Amino acid sequence: MFELVSAAPADPILGLTEAFKEDTRTQKINLGVGIYKNEDGQTPVLNVVKKAEAKLLESESSKSYLSIEGNAQYGLAVQKLLFGADSDIVSSGRALTAQSPGGTGALHNAAEFAVNHLGIKTIWVSNPTWANHGNVFKAMGLEVKQYEYYNANTKSLDYPAMLSSLEQVAKGDLVLLHGCCHNPTGIDPDAAQWKELANISADKGWLPLFDFAYQGFATGIEEDALGLREFAKNHSELMIASSFSKNFGLYNERVGAFTLVAKTPEVAKQAFSQVKAGIRANYSNPPSHGAAVVSIILNDEALTQEWHQEVADMRVRIKEMRDLFVKTLKDEGAKGDYSFIQGQNGMFSFSGLSKEQVASLKSDFAVYIVGSGRISVAGMTKNNMLALCQAIVAVENA
Ligand code: LMR
Repeated sequence: MFELVSAAPADPILGLTEAFKEDTRTQKINLGVGIYKNEDGQTPVLNVVKKAEAKLLESESSKSYLSIEGNAQYGLAVQKLLFGADSDIVSSGRALTAQSPGGTGALHNAAEFAVNHLGIKTIWVSNPTWANHGNVFKAMGLEVKQYEYYNANTKSLDYPAMLSSLEQVAKGDLVLLHGCCHNPTGIDPDAAQWKELANISADKGWLPLFDFAYQGFATGIEEDALGLREFAKNHSELMIASSFSKNFGLYNERVGAFTLVAKTPEVAKQAFSQVKAGIRANYSNPPSHGAAVVSIILNDEALTQEWHQEVADMRVRIKEMRDLFVKTLKDEGAKGDYSFIQGQNGMFSFSGLSKEQVASLKSDFAVYIVGSGRISVAGMTKNNMLALCQAIVAVENA
């Protein structure tokens, strides 16, 4: 039977890493997947994570199963990150959180709950969005529709087009929003736009689902939650998929969380019982280690401060790379004006390079970036910058 199965296409992001590994050229640059690299091109374990792991090694007394929703202290810490330590959403019990295997696992939890228990059939995602969103939602049987987001000519948010396409959203449809550092464009709504979007959503009865994977990479941990907190002010129901792959550097530990906010604590509990039932049928209960590390950090003031600093260090280095990228392109005689890249948030630069240019970068220069033209700025270093910019200038002139 298996011979009847046709091969799946390579994943647009993780497939690039596979191709990169197989590339035998010595001078090669992988700016595909969103992984933070330091100035030496390494993806280090954060110091604060090492400290928490040492504590965990000392204190862990059992490898017994976690509960279906995972570590309760972790869940509470996640809610405080999302809504603020003093938020009444947290203290009231209106929010419940399930520790999930990565942000992708959390998105899956959200989609499963929406389809199986709310009867939702449609989700709206931005055009463009993270390449895996469609896979997750289609796998759960959702119809994926797009709202406008990006203006390729002005290289900015097309807010009027966004609003007008969102008019088609029916009451009760899911609408996916990127909490901050929109992936792949790096362009987020501003404060006034978030407020307006939250008001429209509340008026029209959308069910917002926030994908929150880069908290701390735009401006700061608290500041980056602004959009979500606007929605939390006037929505009685809301869902959030958190990922701590990037801001804790815990990529391979798969640390995420699905948070559901309901009208009342009672309703939250009732609805969340179905989230738990879905988890039980899927992966039963979550793996412990990564979330235990995050929980130790977020429940210790000194470690939390240290974590804020390490996130700030990553954010600042990426911003420096944005500046250097734009400057080096200019110095190397690039035709295009790439200064817009300095205004983008997060790990990625949505470069505007065409599919053909992306293909040529890979085949002729061993520079790997995502087909959409998305470049991981977090993977740029002073050492690979010149070769990268010279390759871009060469494909521009081809
Ligand atoms: C990315 O967008 O590069 C990351 O979120 C990694 C992934 O899983 O695609």
